[in-house]
Amino acid sequence: MRTRKLGNSGIEASVVGLGAWVLGGGTVWGKDTDDAESIATIRAALDAGITLIDTAPAYGFGRSEEVVGKAIHGRRDKVVLATKCGLWWDDQRGSYFCEFDGRPMRRSLRPDTVTTEVENSLRRLGTDYIDLYQTHWPAIDPDKTPIADTMACLMKLKEQGKIRAIGVSNVSPAELAENVAAGDVASNQFRYSMLYRAPEKDILPACQRNHLATLTYMSLEQGLLTGKVGMDRTFTPGDFRSNGDWNPWYKVENRGRVLAMLARFKPLTEKYACTTAQLTIAWTLAQSGVTHTLAGARRAIQAQENARGGDLLIDSKDLAAIRKEVEGLDESAQ
Ligand SMILES: NC(=O)c1ccc[n+]([C@@H]2O[C@H](COP(=O)([O-])OP(=O)(O)OC[C@H]3O[C@@H](n4cnc5c(N)ncnc54)[C@H](OP(=O)(O)O)[C@@H]3O)[C@@H](O)[C@H]2O)c1
Repeated sequence: MRTRKLGNSGIEASVVGLGAWVLGGGTVWGKDTDDAESIATIRAALDAGITLIDTAPAYGFGRSEEVVGKAIHGRRDKVVLATKCGLWWDDQRGSYFCEFDGRPMRRSLRPDTVTTEVENSLRRLGTDYIDLYQTHWPAIDPDKTPIADTMACLMKLKEQGKIRAIGVSNVSPAELAENVAAGDVASNQFRYSMLYRAPEKDILPACQRNHLATLTYMSLEQGLLTGKVGMDRTFTPGDFRSNGDWNPWYKVENRGRVLAMLARFKPLTEKYACTTAQLTIAWTLAQSGVTHTLAGARRAIQAQENARGGDLLIDSKDLAAIRKEVEGLDESAQ
């Protein structure tokens, strides 16, 4: 598996990271998750060469971190462990964000909540250091902590050795610039896929200018870009993917157009002897400014398949042909 640096941190991580959101379970992922299967998935990812694992306290209210902690027990030194702070549910500090499984989630980057969060994450992950500690979402009004105050807290955690590098996520270009000015930012995590390329306009170039690692998420569009979510697949109410309410690409008419496009990639999957998921991962990693991509996996077989996408190199003519196809779909959904 190819590796790349996480910005200027000196940390090398596999270009494909395992996204552990689905391993937290919950209504948004449609069915209950089996922790034993999740542990097997994480271990299969490590065996397949993935070193980067991305989780967060918010994924299943601590469950994803706990499962990751169990899975990496005895292998901690082989893992680049990335988790996050900033989504808070313990009390009324922070600003209301959304509901997850009937529980209100708040956004807080106050130094007092971040200091509590890091201890909770270390305990759940069964480790005494986190490799990459990322702010999950920027703080918002009414309880909007100045970026400089949060960054000062993160820099202190770094000095204390509790975290090795600092990352941000879901920031605007202006927020990114303010974070970079305030401390040692190594990475930025954001949504980016063949079907969601808005970051090409501003965020990706800004990350390149600042020598930041980029951790793209939902690059498989929650499974749609693997080609395995057919027209007949249904999702339970509350699943992100049901009705296309949350992700318009899942609306039946859009799904059909995406599947038709993926069918046209067949000559490429044959040429490169790869699956559609691997082609998607390789295309994402080949885009200007993208250094790492996170791929969620519920089962070991998915993690193994996705890992192999990290070693696939597509030539520039084929990359351009794929781009032409995805640009042809633009009008319909997002
Ligand atoms: N910072 C943020 O705000 C943020 C937001 C979103 C995600 N993330 C991070 O990014 C990671 C990746 O995003 P994501 O998990 O939302 O979406 P994703 O990687 O686009 O999709 C993951 C889902 O796709 C399906 N899948 C994956 N590999 C497959 C394969 N080879 N064959 C068939 N199906 C496959 C699985 O769903 P089924 O098994 O249900 O089919 C899996 O749960 C997350 O886990 C998380 O770590 C961060």
